[in-house]
Amino acid sequence: MTAVEELVRAEVTRRGPIPLAEVVDLALYHPGAGFYATSGRAGRRGDFLTSPEVGPLFGAVVVRALDSWWTRLGEPEVFTVVEAGAGPGTLARTVLTAGPRCARALRYVLVEPSAAQRRLHTEHLALDPPAFAFASLPDPDEDGDAVVAVGPVVVSLADLPRAPGPCIVIANELLDNLAFGLLERTAVGWADVCVGLEGGSLIEVLVPTGRSDGPYAVTGSRVPDQSTAARWVRDARQLAGPGGVVVAFDYASTTEEMARRPWSEWVRTYRHHRRGSHPLEHLGEQDITCEVAIDQLPPPTRETSQADWLRAHGIEALVEEGRTIWRERAAIGDLEAVRARSRVGEADALLDPGGLGGFRVLEWDGS
Ligand SMILES: C[S@@+](CC[C@H](N)C(=O)[O-])C[C@H]1O[C@@H](n2cnc3c(N)ncnc32)[C@H](O)[C@@H]1O
Repeated sequence: MTAVEELVRAEVTRRGPIPLAEVVDLALYHPGAGFYATSGRAGRRGDFLTSPEVGPLFGAVVVRALDSWWTRLGEPEVFTVVEAGAGPGTLARTVLTAGPRCARALRYVLVEPSAAQRRLHTEHLALDPPAFAFASLPDPDEDGDAVVAVGPVVVSLADLPRAPGPCIVIANELLDNLAFGLLERTAVGWADVCVGLEGGSLIEVLVPTGRSDGPYAVTGSRVPDQSTAARWVRDARQLAGPGGVVVAFDYASTTEEMARRPWSEWVRTYRHHRRGSHPLEHLGEQDITCEVAIDQLPPPTRETSQADWLRAHGIEALVEEGRTIWRERAAIGDLEAVRARSRVGEADALLDPGGLGGFRVLEWDGS
């Protein structure tokens, strides 16, 4: 029995059936035993591959977007970018290596609750003390000139900060990983899928909610409850502030569309690059994810596919540049040549409409 399963059993024995969302939260994020507190992470040596982990191209395109938002803001001296759900820090590394135009103004804040992954930030990034990122513009020096620390300033935190806006908040594959609940349509309305104990095993227990909205759902169909993700978007928009932007990349759908599909298609588990088993099995030892129901979030200001977003921010020019470098340096065959050549393969993966290219990019203006 896993440590998380023991915790869940103790809770159920004390309180009776508990909501699935609580179990998912413990399984993923319990500080001592959750999947992300122990071994879980993105990457080739991790459990699943995300866009930044495909290679440096995704980060290079994100840099173009960051530079365009910086320009739109009037190229301020301090430009804060918060990357929420930073995982091992790969996107941060590729953004910084790609040499953003906004580098001297950049305050890059990685937010990652998993201490194990935050340790990787210290290994692979030159981190600054958090106060450096949030210091307000300093007083002018004795000669009357403002002295601003030259960026990039990079800090790593466990929670979303309070930053003076406007800022950019980026989240790649975070929303699908936040704890979610499940509702099942019964003959008398919606029931909350809870977790109980029977004969020594964890089982699903349906607890009526008294709600019967959503005429699209037939008896037996299930939908997710993503109120945690919705709350995160509201908090992120406040952090971004007027003039700022929240941008989330994720696999997404709608509640109605999910009601028509078996729930095992849109709730997925992963471990070591393989699909895992039922979410109540191996608690804490496998990732648990849920497609994002866009209609349950605050309405996005803009929405597009990942392929279109990457094209709009210049992925094709970067690939062409890679081809040119490869032609010029193929005979030398150095690292620069190989990196340039690999952009072509990375672009194929990032733009694939049946894979990462079909992800949705949701943008909310800050509030
Ligand atoms: C699927 S991973 C994605 C990692 C990385 N963004 C990538 O694309 O490779 C999701 C990450 O979000 C983190 N996370 C979970 N809840 C969070 C929260 N409330 N705020 C910030 N990060 C969170 C998890 O610990 C995990 O590392």
